[in-house]
Amino acid sequence: MNILVTGGAGFIGSNFIYYMLDKYKDYKIVCLDKLTYAGNLSTLKRAFENPNFQFVKGDISDRVFVFELFKEKNFDVVVNFAAESHVDRSIEDPEIFLKTNVIGTQVLMDAARKFDIKRFHQVSTDEVYGDLPLDRPDSLFTEETPLRPSSPYSASKAAADLLVLAYYRTYKLPVTISRCSNNYGPYHFPEKLIPLMIIRALNDQPLPVYGDGRNVRDWLYVEDHCSAIDLIIHHGREGEVYNIGGRNERTNLEVVKTILKELGKPEELITFVKDRPGHDLRYAIDPSKIKNELGWEPKTSFEEGIKKTIKWYLDNRDWWEEIISGEYKDYYERMYSNR
Ligand code: NAD
Ligand code: DAU
Repeated sequence: MNILVTGGAGFIGSNFIYYMLDKYKDYKIVCLDKLTYAGNLSTLKRAFENPNFQFVKGDISDRVFVFELFKEKNFDVVVNFAAESHVDRSIEDPEIFLKTNVIGTQVLMDAARKFDIKRFHQVSTDEVYGDLPLDRPDSLFTEETPLRPSSPYSASKAAADLLVLAYYRTYKLPVTISRCSNNYGPYHFPEKLIPLMIIRALNDQPLPVYGDGRNVRDWLYVEDHCSAIDLIIHHGREGEVYNIGGRNERTNLEVVKTILKELGKPEELITFVKDRPGHDLRYAIDPSKIKNELGWEPKTSFEEGIKKTIKWYLDNRDWWEEIISGEYKDYYERMYSNR
């Protein structure tokens, strides 16, 4: 099988590339990535040693470039991870989110139509459903939950999802969509909660918790997301949406306190800062469909996953120290100095 993975120099895409190269020794993988601030070639260092892997730098919204690539490579399957992915950045400047997440997806699907791709898989998010109340622990997102996105980021992902389903209905493009909850694990960019808190705690810096820290996220170890996508591209039904999540709800404060405990750092580092505008209260996925149809189950518990993740950040200082020394410094100043 010949697979195009877009956004593979980012967090989940890179983990997916490693997962697939390790599991399928005869699959060929091309990674197409624009190498934005979130994409890092050092993340793919081990993949470059594999003859079945190739990297191409480019923008998924560049139609001429994308069509040339599809013409040359003869892909069987496209897995679209490429996106602007950070909610706070989308609040600051939404435009690039529409260009990459919506137009980029459209360009890829147009190429997939023209070159008869056997499966176009869109990596989406539970954020398209909006949020759930904190006082109704029984309420969960199912695939039937109406789309009610809150941020420019999640609105752009919801728009892309609708377009993907429209291409299925109108053109019979063989699509699938997965909507996953919050991931964590190796190569997670340190603008996101878990890696940000690990790195700041390691450096004995204040940990900025938005609002009162009671917002809830449903955390999944990244490898479990990869195994779900693997199952969907091989066995998922065309035109279907699959929710992915590990029934692993935690308040932000619980997550931050777990990290501090693991690192032996004091809770006094926690600093409550101004809340994120439109901050979603709670996400929680009902993964029954993917479990019943495809037999998917997560393998890593939060307790085990967070230990593995912290160890990875301790063992891979070079990776993140290089990141936080560049453009990242300006970003942190901009986002956090007036909170
Ligand atoms: P990320 O920000 O770590 O990586 C995104 C990658 O896409 C980067 O390598 C970046 O360079 C690349 N990219 C951005 N714009 C591009 C463009 N125009 N053309 C080509 N490449 C481009 O993101 P992530 O956290 O790995 O998320 C990957 C996907 O999974 C996204 O679609 C996101 O919406 C979705 N998702 C993420 C999570 C999560 O918890 N992180 C959960 C569910 C779904
Ligand atoms: O649910 C899936 C989504 O999860 C993905 O679609 C997104 O791409 C991904 O970024 C993530 O979105 P969140 O907004 O949930 O993730 P983030 O790590 O930015 O924030 C997690 C929670 O932590 C959220 O309630 C906001 C809070 N937070 C975040 C940061 C960065 C803080 O309290 N302080 C912070 O400094």
